[in-house]
Amino acid sequence: MWSFGVFFILAVIVERSHALVVRGTRFQSRDQTNGVTLQSIAQGGVDARYTTNLTINGQNFNAIVDTGSSDIWVIPPADFTFDNTGIPTVATFGGGSLVVTNVSGVIGFGTVGLGSYSVEQQVFQNATFIDLGDVENLGINALIGLSFGGAPSSPLTAALEKNGSNPTDGNPFLYNVFAQTPGQDNFIGISLSRTDDLEGTADASFTINEFDPKYAAVANAPIIPVITIPGVVDRWRILVDNISVDGVDVPLPSSTLSSVPDGSLVAFLDTGTPTASVPPAVISSVFSQIPGAVFKAVDFPTGAVQVWTVPCNTTTIVSVGMGGQSFPIHPLDLSAVFVNNDTNEATCFSPWAPAPGFQGDSDMIFGDSFMRNFYTVFNFGDDVSQAPAGSTIQLPSQTNPTSAQQDVAKARPALIAAASLVEDAPASTSPASAGGAPAATSPAAKHSGQPRLVVSHAILIIFTIFAFLLQ
Ligand SMILES: *[C@@H]1O[C@H](CO)[C@@H](O)[C@H](O)[C@H]1NC(C)=O
Ligand SMILES: *[C@@H]1O[C@H](CO)[C@@H](O)[C@H](O)[C@H]1NC(C)=O
Ligand SMILES: *[C@@H]1O[C@H](CO)[C@@H](O)[C@H](O)[C@H]1NC(C)=O
Ligand SMILES: *[C@@H]1O[C@H](CO)[C@@H](O)[C@H](O)[C@H]1NC(C)=O
Ligand SMILES: *[C@@H]1O[C@H](CO)[C@@H](O)[C@H](O)[C@H]1NC(C)=O
Ligand SMILES: *[C@@H]1O[C@H](CO)[C@@H](O)[C@H](O)[C@H]1NC(C)=O
Ligand SMILES: *[C@@H]1O[C@H](CO)[C@@H](O)[C@H](O)[C@H]1NC(C)=O
Repeated sequence: MWSFGVFFILAVIVERSHALVVRGTRFQSRDQTNGVTLQSIAQGGVDARYTTNLTINGQNFNAIVDTGSSDIWVIPPADFTFDNTGIPTVATFGGGSLVVTNVSGVIGFGTVGLGSYSVEQQVFQNATFIDLGDVENLGINALIGLSFGGAPSSPLTAALEKNGSNPTDGNPFLYNVFAQTPGQDNFIGISLSRTDDLEGTADASFTINEFDPKYAAVANAPIIPVITIPGVVDRWRILVDNISVDGVDVPLPSSTLSSVPDGSLVAFLDTGTPTASVPPAVISSVFSQIPGAVFKAVDFPTGAVQVWTVPCNTTTIVSVGMGGQSFPIHPLDLSAVFVNNDTNEATCFSPWAPAPGFQGDSDMIFGDSFMRNFYTVFNFGDDVSQAPAGSTIQLPSQTNPTSAQQDVAKARPALIAAASLVEDAPASTSPASAGGAPAATSPAAKHSGQPRLVVSHAILIIFTIFAFLLQ
């Protein structure tokens, strides 16, 4: 999830995963040596959010792990006690509503625990209003930002500075963890599991100052410098050298950043964005080269929308070149599935939200549908107070094209079949209506025997908006 900078004019809604059908929420977790968990929350058969367990003053929270922002916000129970500064803040995120989403509340301090790490006097936002679509229904009540500190990247730091506090009072959690161990490196490693499309593998991990042993070879991966832009929100930005389809480079438009060499684009890595945000010209370049892909109107429940449709069993390998390496993208990450309730036909379409780029900031957001394909080490550099100067990223690939292609044959038909089967289930046996809620008022019951969307509602909204904008 990305927080807003002054240069953002146009926001994209890739944040909200609000499937109309929730076939149960699955948690998959794996403890790491430092005890930090990372779990995928699946919704409607797709990975919707990645979260971790966070405590503040002993209270447990299920927090989105977000490399696209810097602060912590929580929605605690009303009786939660904390050191309340009384300073009101509004953090603005891309997502959830048409243009922007606000998370508003007051700034507090408390003892924050994450795995075996604990920070006293950690700043956070006690949120009283959020508008992030369905996240609360997914059992999420917090977010931990893993990006850079200082204003304007950290709205809490900005608000504290304005109130006359020491700017370091607003330091992100990781900065405070790194300060506790001055002799050590300052990095985190993240691997996002792939539990979507009913594959059921769970290998998510989130480590601080150590590598997931499974990816120890990351130490030898090329070191990619983070792109810094003075006066703009700091992000985990890197240069994208090329994008290819089955080994053939596709043309890329010029970057919205003047400093970027022709033929390259700037993306930032954002675990808080479930899919991705990509310029329409790049989407067309890529999808027009995928055999069987067609740009056409699809009759979604929200209305007909022009989208790039893809054969659901496509095994085309799209690769992204970054830092001297090429990263194959799993074909399952190239399409979202929509099952039409009338015809029972599955349509697969590009999950990348079309957005022309963010002038002066970035061209693309590589969210989870890219990040599942590599293990990422985010290194804040030797002197965190100077970050992102000296910050780097290392990325070993996690996707083997051959086994990815085999996955498609297994996983895709199973997901589509499951989506169609759920549709046929009578209302009384649908798990969603078993909770005793009166049928007429239960949103789940309302959808029984109705359209089965194995797709984010937000994605549909995105297409609706952009179809409009692009006309
Ligand atoms: C994380 O939170 C979930 C739900 O509250 C709980 O079931 C799980 O045991 C927790 N994991 C750890 C390692 O604390
Ligand atoms: C979000 O916050 C901004 C800045 O404080 C404000 O102008 C805007 O009206 C808010 N929007 C909503 C939906 O609350
Ligand atoms: C903290 O947030 C919770 C949940 O929104 C709210 O009930 C409580 O009143 C807030 N506390 C303060 C002091 O704002
Ligand atoms: C800091 O915030 C508090 C609480 O809102 C307020 O009472 C105080 O006047 C603020 N101080 C400054 C210097 O803005
Ligand atoms: C199909 O879905 C649309 C949109 O939700 C709904 O209006 C329509 O009634 C559904 N058709 C059937 C046959 O359920
Ligand atoms: C995908 O499925 C269609 C129809 O079932 C079939 O004609 C096509 O050969 C399949 N494509 C691949 C790449 O398996
Ligand atoms: C794309 O760029 C990477 C370097 O980032 C390079 O290794 C790879 O060969 C290039 N791929 C193509 C198809 O040009």
